[in-house]
Order: sequence, then C-alpha cells, then structure tokens
Amino acid sequence: MAAQTEQLGDRPAWKALQAHAQQIHSKHLRELFAQDAARGKRLTVEAAGLFLDYSKNRITDETLKLLIELATQSGLRDKIDAMFRGDKINITENRAVLHVALRAPKDEKILVDGVDVVPEVHAVLDKMAAFADRVRNGDWKGHTGKPIRNIVNIGIGGSDLGPVMAYEALKLYSQRNLTFRFVSNVDGTDFAEAVRDLDAEETLFLVASKTFTTLETMTNAHTARAWTLKRLGDEKAVAKHFVAISTNAKEVAKFGIDTENMFGFWDWVGGRYSMDSAIGLSTMIAIGPNNFREMLAGFHEIDVHFRTTPFEKNLPVLLGLLTVWYSDFFDAQTQAILPYEQYLKRFPAYLQQLTMESNGKHVTLEGIKVSYDTSPIYWGEPGTNGQHSFYQLIHQGTRLIPCDFIGFYKTLNPLGNHHDLLMANVFAQAEALAFGKTAEQVKAEGTPDWLVPHRVFEGNRPSNTILADTLTPGLLGKLIALYEHSVFTQGAIWNIDSFDQWGVELGKVLAQKIVPELESTDEPKLAHDSSTNNLIRLYRKNK
Ligand code: F6P
Repeated sequence: MAAQTEQLGDRPAWKALQAHAQQIHSKHLRELFAQDAARGKRLTVEAAGLFLDYSKNRITDETLKLLIELATQSGLRDKIDAMFRGDKINITENRAVLHVALRAPKDEKILVDGVDVVPEVHAVLDKMAAFADRVRNGDWKGHTGKPIRNIVNIGIGGSDLGPVMAYEALKLYSQRNLTFRFVSNVDGTDFAEAVRDLDAEETLFLVASKTFTTLETMTNAHTARAWTLKRLGDEKAVAKHFVAISTNAKEVAKFGIDTENMFGFWDWVGGRYSMDSAIGLSTMIAIGPNNFREMLAGFHEIDVHFRTTPFEKNLPVLLGLLTVWYSDFFDAQTQAILPYEQYLKRFPAYLQQLTMESNGKHVTLEGIKVSYDTSPIYWGEPGTNGQHSFYQLIHQGTRLIPCDFIGFYKTLNPLGNHHDLLMANVFAQAEALAFGKTAEQVKAEGTPDWLVPHRVFEGNRPSNTILADTLTPGLLGKLIALYEHSVFTQGAIWNIDSFDQWGVELGKVLAQKIVPELESTDEPKLAHDSSTNNLIRLYRKNK
C-alpha cells in the first residue's frame, strides 16, 4: 500500500487542495449560496436517523471531490476494513482497535488473534445486565442488608468522561430513586463532596480503570475503601460495596475486590472508546439493560453506515474531511461543539478526550515528524448559554472557528414554546455566522458612520448543523459513533496512530518523582530546573 508510506504533502489530492484552497479563501458563502439555489438542500446527507447539513461550509463540489480523492489516496477504505477486521492498527501498542466489537450483534464474528471476541462481549453484557437489574430492583443488598441507593463511579479519563456524559445525556431514562455520583480528580475535594451526604450502608462504589493502576483512581478507590470500612467496620463489607471494571484481574484481586465482582473488557478497547463496554456499568444501572442495548444498537447502526457507505454520503467521513480541510487549509486551530440540548451538557468535554487524545499527535505511523497540523482543539458548551459567553469571538473575532450545531426536532421536556425558541437560535446562529451583515445593511438601519464597523458581521464562518428526532439512548450511541469515526477518518488522512496516548506519560512519571519530594521530612536534594525547585520549596514551606 504505497499510499500509506507516502508523505501526505506529496499526494496529488493534497497538492490540488492547496491550489484549490487559494481560490476558495476569497469566496464568500453569500456568493456560493447565490450561485446555487439548491445548495442548502443539496449539501445534506441523512442516514441512520441523523441529518447533516454541511452546506454552510466553505467548500464547492470541487472541494468535496478533492477531499474524497485525498481520503482514497490516504488508504481510508483499507484502513476502515483493517479496523473492523481486528488488525493491530494501534501499532505503537501492537493492539487491535475494536470498540466496534462492543456493539456487534451476537451473530457477528470478529477475530482477534484467531479468537472470536463477540461471544465474550455478550457474556460481559449479560453479566452486567444481571447485576444492574439486581441493583435497580433492590436485590443487591449492602453489608447491613439495606438495598443500594447510591452508585459512585470512581475513574478518570475514559473511565469517567463517558459515564458522566452518558448519565447526564440519558438522565430522563434513569431510575430516579438511585443517586449517581462520579469521582475522578485526585483532589480530595472531589471525593469529599461526592460522598458527604451519602450513607455508606446504601452506597456502592464502581472502581472503573482499564489498567487498575491509574494514580488518581487508585488513590480515590483506597480512600473510598477506608471511608466504607470506617462506617461499616468490617473488611467483609468490601464484597458488597465495591465492584471493579477493568482488564487487569490481578490488580483487582490485589486491591481486595473479589474477581467475581469484576466486569472485564479487553486491551483492544481504548479508554476513550470504552463507554459502551463494562465501563458503562453506571450507565446501565441508571437506564436499565434494555436502554443500554438500544444505545449499543445506535452505535452499531453508524458502524455499519461508516463501513459500507460511499465516502460522499458517509456522515463520519464527511465530518472528518471537513475537519482536515479547515485544520490544514484554513489554519483553523479549534472546533466548537455546540449542542442545543441541555442533556448533552457534558458532550463537548467527552469529545475533548475522544478527539484530542486520539489525534493530538506529532509524528506519522512511521515516526516521521508531520509537516501539517493534526487535531484541532475541541471545545464547546450547550446552547444557548454559549451565545452569551464566547459567541462574540466566533462572530466577530479574528479567528476562524468551524462549529458543529446539534439540535433535535422534539424536546424531551415540552414546556411552552421553549423548544421553538431554542431551535430558532440554532438556525439563527448558523445563518448569522455564514452570511453576516454587511456595512450597507448596517448603514441602511440608520447606524451612524462611526459605529458601522463595530456592527458589521463579516460572515463566511463555517458550520455544520446536525439534526435528529429526539435524544434517546439509541440516538446517543449514533452521535458518539459519528464522532468516533470522524476521528478515525482524520487520523487516517494524517497517517497517525489515533489509538495510543504516550503524551500523557511524561507528566505522570515526573509527578511520581515529585510526590516524595513534597512529603519527605528531610530537606530533599532537588535536581529539577530552578523554577520547579523554587516552586517545590515554596510549597513545602507553606503547606
Ligand atoms: O489519560 C491517560 C489514560 O490512559 C486515558 O487514555 C484513560 O482513559 C485514562 O488514562 C484512565 O485510564 P484507566 O482506565 O486505565 O484508569
């Protein structure tokens, strides 16, 4: 596959896009819409219950053609097939990348090292469902015989962000007599606040960690153990109040959790791709096994779409290619995710790990330093709150910020005309960003000349609008899979390993070295730079 070792900048489509971008830079969306009355309908795709309007992007048919050629020349099709086949495409860790197997139906067969992993996936799902049902109906009793009322998930990164996001997103479907809390930060405040009003007799801790060695999670888990034992006074209580979610049975046993109470997953599930594995146990307890399975079916529908649909109609491919377009040909540094759905308030934070831990890479698969930008910075807040905060910069600042608007035809909480007001804002924002307001229009409103420049909106600011019927578990699965595969598409073009995360290692190692320096009673010999030495001394003196 010559395309994969070739430098991205040498690909014919890349060169053609560079030349083409020069022409597009000077074109305004007003012009593109004026030239083509059908554009707003034509540049849309609907699949698997998701409607994407990408007409308000700074593209022409030629741009799309070239981007799709770039995908082809980058071997995207082969790379997709390799992932679904279970090839070890996470080359720096020599691992398959098979989050798609987590939502594969029972009759599918996916081999890793010659073993079909689908039966194992379903066995864990069944074990989770049996456990979730026992907790939900009060059959799982705590050490003193009381039913569990509080579930505290302890995890960080992929073992926290997905569960928190999904719990918030699907709160309407959750069993309301259960309380859910999420502890992630090693800052003791996180734990202290999460448990301050909880009764240990009714509290179950889910210790979620792929490796079961992560400093934050293990520290919080030990604190949770001590908190429980102090209140229940018996080591045996651990069996009723702690379960583990991990790939590392040895460490789970070492911690003192019976591996009977462990829900497993596999090294071919990346942390940021794990919310639909056993890591989703809190989600399943909250919404019930049937809703969880509906969510998995939603993921799967987009998996099939991604795998089988031609690129020009393929939602994740289009989204991914547009991100490459703005990152590498418009120098866009960031991408805003703007869900107009309160339940999706943690969705942007979830996507930050998914996108930036995956594609924040500086070398190619061959280890060569890239000569182009990789992942943009993802950020965002739910609408309409963001409008009264940072939208000023998106509309009139000096930076180009592509935006993804996400909205629903139907609200889960009909209240007067709230939903029409909400959705009017989605459409208005995308319209204002694209078309702006000219000096002539501002003047025609009687604005004094000196004020005109301040009130001009240049427009030509790109956005996607993603619409769906209503936020259900299945729809959430679709939305997540859409972005997972958009990230995959971007990584395939950039020829990087989207599935490792070496970039988080250095800080972790240095912190381990500094801990004893902060805690020792003797003055430690500090061998850091002068700034770090000074900060450590200051902390030691004042702590
Ligand atoms: O931040 C690095 C990382 O390894 C993430 O990829 C992962 O989601 C997180 O730490 C938590 O890891 P674990 O589930 O092993 O505790």
